[in-house]
Amino acid sequence: MTAQVSHLFNNIWQQYLAVTPSANEIHQLLGDGADVINDHVAYRTFNLDKVNLTKLASQLLAVGYTECGEYDFPEKKLTAKHFEHSDSTLPKVFISELRVEEFPADVQAIIHGLVKQLPDNISEQANFLYSGRTWQVSSNEYKTLLKASEYAAWLAAWGYRANHFTVSINHLNKFDEITEVNATLKKSGYHLNTAGGEIKGNLAVMLEQSSTLADNAKVEFSDKTMEIPSCFYEFAKRYPQENGELYSGFVAASADKIFESTHAA
Ligand code: NI
Repeated sequence: MTAQVSHLFNNIWQQYLAVTPSANEIHQLLGDGADVINDHVAYRTFNLDKVNLTKLASQLLAVGYTECGEYDFPEKKLTAKHFEHSDSTLPKVFISELRVEEFPADVQAIIHGLVKQLPDNISEQANFLYSGRTWQVSSNEYKTLLKASEYAAWLAAWGYRANHFTVSINHLNKFDEITEVNATLKKSGYHLNTAGGEIKGNLAVMLEQSSTLADNAKVEFSDKTMEIPSCFYEFAKRYPQENGELYSGFVAASADKIFESTHAA
């Protein structure tokens, strides 16, 4: 692993932990002192030129990632792609973008107003993927977005940071089955996202996923501070394809429900 890419993910991880304290505890709980390998890291963005999926991806392509799969989420009005590195210990990266033009005019106006505040070259800045939220947004704008798209509201509040990290169950020493991971988490008091069932996917689609419900953290809006859902932790178990290699893609029907992990409990 090059120093550059390890530096990038270390910064992304530290920024994520700052608003997701449960992730550190869960990391200890599942890893039991050993390194935890991340299956993937997920990002959210708007499909506006300055910050679209392609712009986020360019940061990854620059450190050796390649584009691998494309996904559509018609109900949530999202397009996504995933990227992989030749070093399989590096996480895959799943980037989605909101199709802004499919929303009502007032929602579009708020989103355009946020992105307009960013410098033109933001996507070229080395810290873009962990730059956080650098636009001003009011609590009323947040609430308006929340009614139209939880995804848009989350992004408006949190900006550019990992939405979640994902533990690779395949690489854990203590656990083999996602059911064991889930049982351990629940026994320790964590709440899991039950949208679409606690476990999304199965052996037939070669991927099983579960996730915690997001932690809550304080956000300073331009007019007041509110506590809202921040980020969550996901768990993935992959199964081998006919050629013996683990399936490395994503399952849209499962990912659709994973997005709901940032819904208010
Ligand atoms: Ni995920």
